Amino acid sequence: MTELRSARLLIRPIASADIPAFVAYRREPEVARYQSWSTDYSAADARALVDGQPASGWPDAGEWVQLGLHLADGPTGLIGDVAVGADAEQPDTFELGVTLAPAHQGRGFAREALEAVLAELMDERGAHRVVMQGDARNAPVLALMRRLGLRHEGTILEGDWFKGEWTALERFALLDREWRVR
Ligand SMILES: CC(C)(COP(=O)(O)OP(=O)(O)OC[C@H]1O[C@@H](n2cnc3c(N)ncnc32)[C@H](O)[C@@H]1OP(=O)(O)O)[C@@H](O)C(=O)NCCC(=O)NCCS
Repeated sequence: MTELRSARLLIRPIASADIPAFVAYRREPEVARYQSWSTDYSAADARALVDGQPASGWPDAGEWVQLGLHLADGPTGLIGDVAVGADAEQPDTFELGVTLAPAHQGRGFAREALEAVLAELMDERGAHRVVMQGDARNAPVLALMRRLGLRHEGTILEGDWFKGEWTALERFALLDREWRVR
């Protein structure tokens, strides 16, 4: 895929050069807390992820791509990522996830990156529905999904056995027709 650009960001699949920064923020306790990995995330884990990225730079059904976020003006280096997954069962249906390195939180980069990825999905790639979900205790991501204008679809109570306990998930979504009138 070609690189996506927003006002302040360059967005492209993570690559080998991004591994040290990617591992460093994934090991931060507050970053890992509600995510699928733990603070022992390793360079080997990241290498496997980079090697498993779709060759086209975009996911086919059942695949994920990890898009890295870089400042357009300023120091080079990875500041976060947006994960884009293509649903294995439903056509034109995608799931997004987002992570920022702690030093780059609180500046609107997550929203800006997700807006750019939503525009790519909805306007360029014919997406019908985009979903996001977050742990019900993860206040920053719930606020972010609301700021983005996603529609709350429901709470899955004790539906996720996660890091040793039953947890609740908040699910949000946006349809293409909702995107167009947003
Ligand atoms: C989820 C996560 C990405 C949200 O990050 P975030 O920094 O809160 O979100 P944004 O980048 O959109 O920044 C929004 C904040 O920047 C502020 N901001 C500052 N300058 C801004 C600007 N130019 N434009 C927009 N917002 C700006 C906003 O007011 C807001 O602050 P507030 O939360 O105090 O109101 C972050 O908490 C994270 O990486 N968490 C760990 C990983 C995780 O759990 N991810 C969720 C899995 S799906």
